[in-house]
Amino acid sequence: MAVQQPLTVQGAASSYPVIVRPGALADALPVLVREHRFSRAIVITNTTLAPLYGEPLVEALPDATLITVPDGEQHKTLDTVSRLYADLLAAGADRSSVVIGLGGGVIGDMAGFVAATFMRGIAFIQAPTSLLAMVDASIGGKVGVDLPQGKNLVGAFKDPLAVIADTATLRTLPEIEWRCGLAEVVKAALIADPPLLDHLLRHGPEPADDVIRRAAAVKIGLVEEDRLEHGPRAFLNLGHTFGHAVEQVSGYAWKHGEAVALGLAAAARLSEQRGLCASGLAGQVESALAALRLPTRYTDLDPDDLWRAMQHDKKWRGGAATFVLLHGIGQPVIVPDVPREDVIEVLRTLRTEP
Ligand SMILES: NC(=O)c1ccc[n+]([C@@H]2O[C@H](COP(=O)([O-])OP(=O)(O)OC[C@H]3O[C@@H](n4cnc5c(N)ncnc54)[C@H](O)[C@@H]3O)[C@@H](O)[C@H]2O)c1
Ligand SMILES: [Zn+2]
Repeated sequence: MAVQQPLTVQGAASSYPVIVRPGALADALPVLVREHRFSRAIVITNTTLAPLYGEPLVEALPDATLITVPDGEQHKTLDTVSRLYADLLAAGADRSSVVIGLGGGVIGDMAGFVAATFMRGIAFIQAPTSLLAMVDASIGGKVGVDLPQGKNLVGAFKDPLAVIADTATLRTLPEIEWRCGLAEVVKAALIADPPLLDHLLRHGPEPADDVIRRAAAVKIGLVEEDRLEHGPRAFLNLGHTFGHAVEQVSGYAWKHGEAVALGLAAAARLSEQRGLCASGLAGQVESALAALRLPTRYTDLDPDDLWRAMQHDKKWRGGAATFVLLHGIGQPVIVPDVPREDVIEVLRTLRTEP
């Protein structure tokens, strides 16, 4: 087997590797932890993943403790964080300890926030186990939790020492989570890697490790260019302005990845409607999404409600309707002041009668 060069991310102070391969939890992670001679290794995971991957991992690590939280976004809160601080202290964690976040994006965000704040910050390792976390959430240093008023309203930037993505763990990932992760892979391809889209379509819905690496590389490229999110990192918002509105208006009945898929279809349509790209782009994007069994149409929501929800978008400075659109595949562009009528028109064309 060819030895894979690890991807690396240039963080705030130093660079860190992103290792994507099966078996990395059993070999790369224990080696890394031993090298650093941490006083303790605290593995934070959830009740679903603890028996599958958490317990074997703490067995393989020196001086390790497993801390388990309930599964689900509803537990990504300050309440859980304060329970975690108490558990860290009870486990004897100190400034020379390391926190390892083992799970999907919920665990990575929350464990990273704990590592960023416990004793003013201790070492952190991301061990993503969902496709979405491998290609998106574990990269870029954003960590945080939700408030009752909204998602990700409290957080920090915390670079990990490494991202260790053991792709063997994906075998147990539920099918719906696969598809949601694929929506972010399609997004990465549309932003910066056109051949990745063809590759995905040829190989079907089960992405190989190199697909994950390529999607991760797109995110790495953008966050390196723009660590604090003033410029090109905003391209990562492709499909997300529509997507967040769909999640909200549906009361989160639409999962994030499904909503992003619909949002990618909407962004492609809006690009075409405004004459930014050649006609045919929207059809191409929609057939790619459909081939991956992702939604490109909706029935249950009202276009005006979606427009209203978009106006609360954190990224619409001063309320101007700003969208990431496409000049073509691999050519994103930020377009401010898109008129309401244009957006509503696109939303109408994507709505089908029940
Ligand atoms: N920090 C960032 O830059 C960033 C970027 C994107 C998303 N996020 C955050 O990520 C979160 C979403 O992440 P997610 O989609 O991974 O959701 P998640 O963490 O809730 O995981 C989805 C489900 O899959 C399960 N799961 C994960 N890996 C598994 C495996 N290998 N086998 C079996 N089950 C497994 C989890 O237990 C959970 O039930 C959101 O909170 C979002 O805000 C953060
Ligand atoms: Zn997303």
